[in-house]
Amino acid sequence: MSPLLALDRVERAFGGVRAVDGAGFAVAPGQVHGLIGPNGAGKTTVINLISGLLAPTAGSIQLGDRPIHGLPPWQVAALGVARTFQNIRLFPDLSARDNVLVGQHLRRTPSLAARMLMLPSARTEEREARERAEALLTRVGLSERVHEHARHLSYGEQRRVEIARALASAPRLLLLDEPTAGMNPVEVQAVAQLIRRVAAEGQSVLLVEHNVRLVMDVCDTITVLCFGKVIAEGAPRTVAEDPAVIAAYLGNPK
Ligand SMILES: Nc1ncnc2c1ncn2[C@@H]1O[C@H](COP(=O)(O)OP(=O)(O)O)[C@@H](O)[C@H]1O
Ligand SMILES: [Mg+2]
Repeated sequence: MSPLLALDRVERAFGGVRAVDGAGFAVAPGQVHGLIGPNGAGKTTVINLISGLLAPTAGSIQLGDRPIHGLPPWQVAALGVARTFQNIRLFPDLSARDNVLVGQHLRRTPSLAARMLMLPSARTEEREARERAEALLTRVGLSERVHEHARHLSYGEQRRVEIARALASAPRLLLLDEPTAGMNPVEVQAVAQLIRRVAAEGQSVLLVEHNVRLVMDVCDTITVLCFGKVIAEGAPRTVAEDPAVIAAYLGNPK
């Protein structure tokens, strides 16, 4: 099957630092693809390059058969790529539901005129959008927290709202940057199941994660980055036993 996402010899330098240094990998449709590596390996930069927050200094990024490198974030989003952030980015004074609604509006908005006139069609759409947002929050296990302001939610809950918001745009590809940071083990398990369910429904997930256990449990394939280069790739067990990977994690990359 041809990949949904393909990176080829992608480079991104910041001044003298080559954050991403000729990296390439491909994500298949409906697969959970892990992207791991020590701190500073370039993982977040890769997510930023795919989502259009940054442009590569060289190389190509393809979504299906369409090059997306250099496109602005909203165009990449419109093509079906959604993400969460390593540092949570929610509106603290909006409810969990309204934060998710922000993500949905990317997908479908009644015309401004229809909304100004509060035509029945606009009212129906608003109600349906709210119901969808609530369903997404239920899907991430937050049905009890729908009306809570984001700032009153725990870190784990806020991260799950971010995932619900990303899913609200019905993406083909979901990019998760350390989704379980700050979560307790029960929440981590819930996120693991959620990721598997998302993939089972045909969406692809690119998972950046330092919880190695989670990565091993949920990923079909793992790519290991170190100093911006791919040093290993394959099934979780193969990668875990790779001497170069072990050395990288012990702080002695070869
Ligand atoms: N906006 C930036 N400006 C300058 N350097 C950056 C920037 N973003 C990342 N870097 C550098 O690029 C490298 C990779 O960072 P990052 O992608 O955040 O790694 P990771 O997510 O794997 O921990 C690091 O050396 C980091 O300091
Ligand atoms: Mg990072």
